Amino acid sequence: MNIVTPSELKLGKAELNEAPWWKGAVIYHIYPRSYYDSNGDGIGDLRGVIEKLDYIASLGVDAIWLSPFFKSPQADFGYDISDYREIDPDFGTIEDFDDLVEEAHNLGLKIIIDQVYAHTSDEHAWFEESRQSKTNEKSDWYVWADPKVDGTPPNNWQSVFGGPAWEWDARRQQYYMHNFLKQQPQLNVHNPDVQKAIIEVMRFWMDRGVDGFRMDAINFAMHNRAMTDNPPSNKNFADVTRPFDMQKRIHNQSQPEIPLFMERIRSELNKYGEIFTVAEIGGDEALHEMRDYTYGNERLNSAYSFDFLDGPPISADKVRGTLGNWTGEKNEGWPSWAFENHDAPRAVSRWASPEKRWNAARNYMMVLLSLRGNAFIYQGEELGLPQGEVPFEHLKDPEAIANWPRTLGRDGARVPMPWVKDAPNAGFTTGTPWLPVDAKQAALAVDTQDGCSPCMLSFTRAAMGVRRKSDALTRGSMTFLDTHNSSVLAYMRRYEDEHYLCVFNFSDKHSHWNHHLGKGWKVVFSHDGMSDGWEVPHDLPGYSAFWAKLEK
Ligand code: NOJ
Repeated sequence: MNIVTPSELKLGKAELNEAPWWKGAVIYHIYPRSYYDSNGDGIGDLRGVIEKLDYIASLGVDAIWLSPFFKSPQADFGYDISDYREIDPDFGTIEDFDDLVEEAHNLGLKIIIDQVYAHTSDEHAWFEESRQSKTNEKSDWYVWADPKVDGTPPNNWQSVFGGPAWEWDARRQQYYMHNFLKQQPQLNVHNPDVQKAIIEVMRFWMDRGVDGFRMDAINFAMHNRAMTDNPPSNKNFADVTRPFDMQKRIHNQSQPEIPLFMERIRSELNKYGEIFTVAEIGGDEALHEMRDYTYGNERLNSAYSFDFLDGPPISADKVRGTLGNWTGEKNEGWPSWAFENHDAPRAVSRWASPEKRWNAARNYMMVLLSLRGNAFIYQGEELGLPQGEVPFEHLKDPEAIANWPRTLGRDGARVPMPWVKDAPNAGFTTGTPWLPVDAKQAALAVDTQDGCSPCMLSFTRAAMGVRRKSDALTRGSMTFLDTHNSSVLAYMRRYEDEHYLCVFNFSDKHSHWNHHLGKGWKVVFSHDGMSDGWEVPHDLPGYSAFWAKLEK
């Protein structure tokens, strides 16, 4: 196997071609609350991220995406923002943020921040003002509606986290809408003044040097102003946990005006140079919306969906079906992919049995790093961490608490990052961690894997090194091959005369695949018993994977 040293990692694709920095980037997703606590209060912070920047750079990623660190009452752990321009004291100060940007840039890392425009916190000054009366200057900044004559909410819309999407407000004698928690009132993004205010927030952060924005729940940013009832989804009751899933959400989200707002955003961002924008898109219309919001050159650069974050385990069909929608035709945007994040259980725990986890984690990392698009790596994915266990009495996620025990919730993906196996709290904090450290994860801490060549961490770094040096893997085309075996996925990545063949066995058993490829292929990266060499393996051990390059 090719092990690439950290100094070689610096020689990246930027030197190899002139594509915008974000095209084919690998983005390391940090949930700051759980990354590293620099001041012993049990909560990770921006200084903690600064202290770990060398580690992050050593992975060979291009950028960091930080989940929200803005002022917030933390009802939804930062996705309920009460001031878009202030840093929450839990996470530090604006000086810490400025230092983070500067130090990250010195290491060649770009900074992407989360922006939440669909809603604010109910403690945001805009909402405080809006709820005062039906006539004040911000009265139309949120989604307000009169009750029906019988006092019930204006329509049947349901919130993601459970229960109606409406909360009564005695001051205005009206309901306000919230797609998530009632502490997250829905902004009325149809209102041009709201759009203007949002764009001013973006400018504030671009002036501080950020390189990109991840746009939270962007297909929830607008509602149907006619307030029409949603029709039923006709899903099987036994398959759903929330009333939200029992509707086709065609009126409380996914409105046709959203792409026009994207265009307005983009025209502002263009004034700042190569600012990367990536939308988070959930729901049944995700594929269509990913394409729509990134269409042409005037909307967002990229989008990612929940295709690999929930639903059935990864399979050859699933990858073909999902990626096959991105053909590279003119005007098509550029997709991004995530297998893990702060909202989804760890992929290795969702997709593989505990005994096979080591092999599966390597297989999945190789898939993620060779898909056509940008790759998001969630903190700890580079270590192959399984899902953390959080007993009910320690749960913090409001969604998990509300839906216990049907939904295990998001805390298991948010438990603290393990840094030092034998230190208290796995080295995350000297205080009491906000969520318990998971013992299984502590055994895989960074210190146990750093410098250990058979470990997942070295494997991730090495795979990153191969990807960074390859135009084909970062931005090449993708062609699926027929493998004559449903467990085996094979595709070709190509850029000009550089050709990569990527093959994965998703079964835990030996699998054979067939495809006549001709000569000249050399396996340059693999795991599980397939050494580098000129023979393209056709007998694949369980969960094995390889990348081969056409050399002659
Ligand atoms: C998506 C975020 O990833 C999630 O954590 C949050 O709860 C919702 N958006 C609401 O902002």
